[in-house]
Amino acid sequence: MRIDVLTIFPDLFTGFLSTSIPAIAIEQGRISCHTHDIRAYAANKHRKVDDRPFGGGPGMVMMCQPIFDAVKAAESQDSELPAVRVLLTPQGERLTQPRVEWLAQQPRLTLLCGHYEGIDERVIEELKPLEISIGDYVLSGGELGAMVLIDAVARLQPGVLGHEESAAEDSFSVRSTDGAHLLDCPHYTRPREWNGREVPDILLSGDHAAVDRWRDEQRITRTRERRPDLLQDSPLANPQPLPAANTNKPAAQVARAKRSNASHSSDGGLHGQAAPEGA
Ligand code: ADE
Repeated sequence: MRIDVLTIFPDLFTGFLSTSIPAIAIEQGRISCHTHDIRAYAANKHRKVDDRPFGGGPGMVMMCQPIFDAVKAAESQDSELPAVRVLLTPQGERLTQPRVEWLAQQPRLTLLCGHYEGIDERVIEELKPLEISIGDYVLSGGELGAMVLIDAVARLQPGVLGHEESAAEDSFSVRSTDGAHLLDCPHYTRPREWNGREVPDILLSGDHAAVDRWRDEQRITRTRERRPDLLQDSPLANPQPLPAANTNKPAAQVARAKRSNASHSSDGGLHGQAAPEGA
């Protein structure tokens, strides 16, 4: 996957891209990441990329021309790869794991980071990006959102996490038998006792089926307690019974089976979320 990032702060990405999972994904050749300084495309001698809003009001608005030219220049490199354009904005669709999974399968992403009060609407209409928000709060710019997105897609590239199963068992990737997204179960490592706290006996039992059942129960209980909204349309919202506990199939296994079924469905398992135009 090729990722182009358009930003007025390309330096912000230097440490991020050379650390941890993004760095591993790049080193393994699973992603390549190219930052482009929007300011370098400003067609004025002061390299100005923003101006005052028509109609008045506070703040500055990013101008069409530098953004449009930067996107065109970035996408003219490796132009045989079709790009999904993404604008990071608090007004966008809230980023979820199904959307991350869809984005992770694209050959190319162009990530556009806005700043100031926003971007001139006309360049958004012209470029037709998928508008993505990383949460209901306002950041100073789209760069942190772009990093969140890069990290989330990088860790889904084959081989990047090392252990193939670990992404499938993350919170929001695991599903219950009826397809509800579940939070992850608790994890423990050595020592067996720390600060008077013991590791649950079941995890030391060596009984793998029992461990799988316990983890399923924990996922369901946690989701019910912490994120009941995820279970809104699921029978798991009610405390009894726990369907996953009555079967020998761990939720992760069910999730895998569901995913392979979903891959035959027309929306690729996106639960009705539309693919962005031009993808
Ligand atoms: N830019 C500013 N706030 C943002 C948010 N919440 N998500 C994505 N990009 C943003």
